[in-house]
Amino acid sequence: MQPLLQADAICVTFGGLKAVDGVSFSLNAGEIVGLIGPNGAGKTTLFNALVGLQPLTSGTVWLDGERVCGLKPHKVARLGMTKTFQNAALFPDMSVKENVTTAALLRHDLKGARAKADTVLRKLDLTPIADADVADLTFPQKALVEMARALATEPRVLLLDEVMAALTPAEMDEVMAVIRALKAEGLAFLVVEHHMRAIMALCDRLLAVNFGRLIADGTPAQVAAHPQVIEAYLGHGAAGKEAAHA
Ligand SMILES: Nc1ncnc2c1ncn2[C@@H]1O[C@H](COP(=O)(O)OP(=O)(O)OP(=O)(O)O)[C@@H](O)[C@H]1O
Ligand SMILES: [Mg+2]
Repeated sequence: MQPLLQADAICVTFGGLKAVDGVSFSLNAGEIVGLIGPNGAGKTTLFNALVGLQPLTSGTVWLDGERVCGLKPHKVARLGMTKTFQNAALFPDMSVKENVTTAALLRHDLKGARAKADTVLRKLDLTPIADADVADLTFPQKALVEMARALATEPRVLLLDEVMAALTPAEMDEVMAVIRALKAEGLAFLVVEHHMRAIMALCDRLLAVNFGRLIADGTPAQVAAHPQVIEAYLGHGAAGKEAAHA
């Protein structure tokens, strides 16, 4: 079976810095894959490269057999792949529904986009806060609205960059239940989270990166026990960051 997403030897350099250094992996429909690694390892840069926000220095990205590297983000989104932003980038002076409608304009006229927004908000149980200002939302509400906005573009592959960063364990469970329900519908996820509990509970497979390089690709248990992964975390103090969240 052809993977839904295939990344071949992706490199992104900033001046002399190899932020992403020859990363290859694949992702299948209905799969949740976690991307872990210490701060500065290149996770966000890799996400940006996949969705067209960051030009590749070299390498190829295939989405369902089609080359998407070199395309603008809205073109990649139209083909079915989009990402959330690490620090929620919602429009603060718009309502929840307006934020989600804006994203749905990718595939619909205004009337259709409003209808799509209604459908997505209902699906994520956000209808009661549809008219709220984004500025007034709680952290878990913001996380769900970020996801709603991404879902309104009707992706087949959704990249989540630390959507659960500010959440309590109970709030994380709520967001994870939503992600699992979407997975059951065939959506594929790449997930960056520093909360190892969430990553271990949610992901079918993990990719670990350090200094831009892929150092492990396997089941969560295999990757968590991988000597280079343990070394990467202990060496960078990211284990301390995780402990602070626990
Ligand atoms: N636009 C840029 N210009 C120059 N260097 C950059 C740029 N974006 C990222 N970098 C550098 O590339 C490396 C990878 O950064 P990136 O943000 O991808 O890491 P990350 O794994 O997402 O980290 P975090 O866990 O802290 O979010 C870092 O050394 C960072 O300083
Ligand atoms: Mg990042």
